[in-house]
Amino acid sequence: MSKKNKFKLMPVLLTGLAIISLGAVIFYLSPPFKKAEAGITLMPEDLSITKLGNSVYTEKCASCHGVALEGQANWQQRNSDGYLPAPPHDESGHTWHHPSSYLFLMTKYGIEKMIGEKYPNNMPAYENKLTDNEIIAVLSYIKSTWPKPIQRQHDEISAYANTQ
Ligand code: HEC
Repeated sequence: MSKKNKFKLMPVLLTGLAIISLGAVIFYLSPPFKKAEAGITLMPEDLSITKLGNSVYTEKCASCHGVALEGQANWQQRNSDGYLPAPPHDESGHTWHHPSSYLFLMTKYGIEKMIGEKYPNNMPAYENKLTDNEIIAVLSYIKSTWPKPIQRQHDEISAYANTQ
């Protein structure tokens, strides 16, 4: 390649490099991907934590997800406005199918911010309404209500997600 051609390529290369670096910075800074948050652990056996979680649940979640974690009626069908009702958090729902990190990020940032695309839904984000500890507590409480074999399965799902 002649010197002249190399010179012409420089701006293209630099622009490419700038785009890649910007992408990396955005990826790194976007809160849902912070490693520390993605590696959170729930503590369903710690009574002081589940007690706090129980009161957070009653105050902030029960109105939609049900006092007994039973969810709203026909939760698998979109209503006339096109929204899904609140799903149950007991073993009949699919909360326990998701790793702890997913549950934490979804509760903190809401679904759209977590998946990074538009998805109209009625689940609020609790970023400015609950502390990280309160979110961990409420999810620990939810987990503490699941039968032990489901809790063990959820441990495995979460451990696997942390290795990804
Ligand atoms: C205003 C009603 C409302 C409140 C209050 C609410 N949620 Fe939700 N939540 C929803 C709806 C609706 C969905 C389903 C959204 C969808 O998929 O379209 C949902 C979904 C979820 C999911 C995902 C479950 C899954 O299986 O994918 C989690 C986790 C969750 N909520 C946790 C919480 C927690 C924890 C609280 C309390 C701090 C809470 N929610 C308060 C309405 C609510």
